[in-house]
Amino acid sequence: MKELTMQDLVSYCKTMGFIFPGSEIYGGLANSWDYGPLGVELKNNIKSAWWKRFVQTEPNNVGLDSAIIASPRIWEASGHLASFSDPLMDCRACKSRHRADKLIENWLTEQEQKGNHIETKSSEAMSDAEMEEFIQAHKIPCPDCGKCDFTPIRKFNLMFKTFMGVTEDAKSTVYLRPETCACIFTNFKNVLRSTRAKLPFGICQIGKSFRNEITPGNFIFRTREFEQMEMEFFCHPNDAEKWFEHYRHECMEFCKNIGVNPEKLRFRDHDKEELVFYSKATTDIEFNYPFGWSELWGIANRTNYDLTQHQKFSGEDLTYTDPFTNEKFTPFVVEPSVGVDRLLLAVLCSAYTVEDLPDNDSRIVLKLHKSLAPIKVAVLPLSKKLEDSAQKLYADLSQDYRAQYDASGSIGKRYRRQDEIGTPYCVTVDFETETDQSVTVRDRDTMLQERVKITELNDWLRNHLK
Ligand code: GAP
Repeated sequence: MKELTMQDLVSYCKTMGFIFPGSEIYGGLANSWDYGPLGVELKNNIKSAWWKRFVQTEPNNVGLDSAIIASPRIWEASGHLASFSDPLMDCRACKSRHRADKLIENWLTEQEQKGNHIETKSSEAMSDAEMEEFIQAHKIPCPDCGKCDFTPIRKFNLMFKTFMGVTEDAKSTVYLRPETCACIFTNFKNVLRSTRAKLPFGICQIGKSFRNEITPGNFIFRTREFEQMEMEFFCHPNDAEKWFEHYRHECMEFCKNIGVNPEKLRFRDHDKEELVFYSKATTDIEFNYPFGWSELWGIANRTNYDLTQHQKFSGEDLTYTDPFTNEKFTPFVVEPSVGVDRLLLAVLCSAYTVEDLPDNDSRIVLKLHKSLAPIKVAVLPLSKKLEDSAQKLYADLSQDYRAQYDASGSIGKRYRRQDEIGTPYCVTVDFETETDQSVTVRDRDTMLQERVKITELNDWLRNHLK
């Protein structure tokens, strides 16, 4: 089968109504994307699956929905104001702008593909001076003009700045949050008090984050506005390693359970040099996207860094006293953090299939996990004369499922349309329906058909959509 390219995927998503280029009628806004009618359903289903797994079915975990614009003091405490930046270099020859770490990473990948293995630490573990030296020593060329004539590295803060209120000065400067976790830490005591939670427990949040990325790209993989699903799991310092291993495993299982291709998933543990100074361990779950292996989900043991910082900057006591032992300590935090958009990309890449059929025919079928399918069931009347009863069935099914009604074109074409968007079941109303009070249900993956009584259809679907 032909390998799926990013171009194929972008065009498929636009044609089908999953994802459209942002601000398109005004010529577009670089790397912004709008989720269309099917995209929003798929995205909501992914968020629901995550919420069900990490909040609903975890007795110790709770949810939160905090403000996007928060006190700038939070970003002082977290270190984002001082150091949430990318190492930026300008090409003196063509004036294009690049991330030094990405120049090195991409060049190393190219060398690897040519069979030249270069022994070096990863660019994330290099200091700015080391990156500059490496680029010079290997004469890494500008991807735009091919020359190697870069300015020294400048730090570029990734937070989006705006003003709160009517004046536009330093005092009214605020930032759009670059990650959702910060306000989980600042609400630690509120959650503890209001829920009477006892360690260990997790606070989970889904929401938008904003980063003024220098090199966004690869469709929805890296954008400036994206959604994150983050959990901060608070535990005793002695238990952090155990919980880190637990969630490292659970996040991988979750990916597989929602239909991400297991052959395209792997763990990548950060080595000591790459670890952020406060992290004891970090693992990325990587996915093999059409452009290669890259991060999907990060799981980190963040120690007690965040609570300690917020305690220091706010003056609030963010320690925990164990009700059984009376031990007072600042909890450690294990954080699994994943981008909704990135997970959606991995899901789409895993599900998109071109299948050969007999007689030199083929079909595109989106083999989504049924729980993620944007449309669960399509109602198709075989003839215009059957529209009244089909419409009634559609209205009934819509009470319980995201359904679609399609009366146009041959039945074969209608099946293909539903296959292409991943609808697990098509229900055909035909001329026998009135006499036997039954419909034909067709399965997306096997294409097999089954006769089901209308009175039993709801239960049948509920059982088969599990
Ligand atoms: N609180 C930790 C944190 O935010 P991160 O590795 O910067 O860690 C976590 O981000 C996850 O968020 C990533 O694994 C990725 O799935 C997603 N993510 C980060 N930046 C993104 C971007 N610019 N566009 C889309 N998703 C992004």
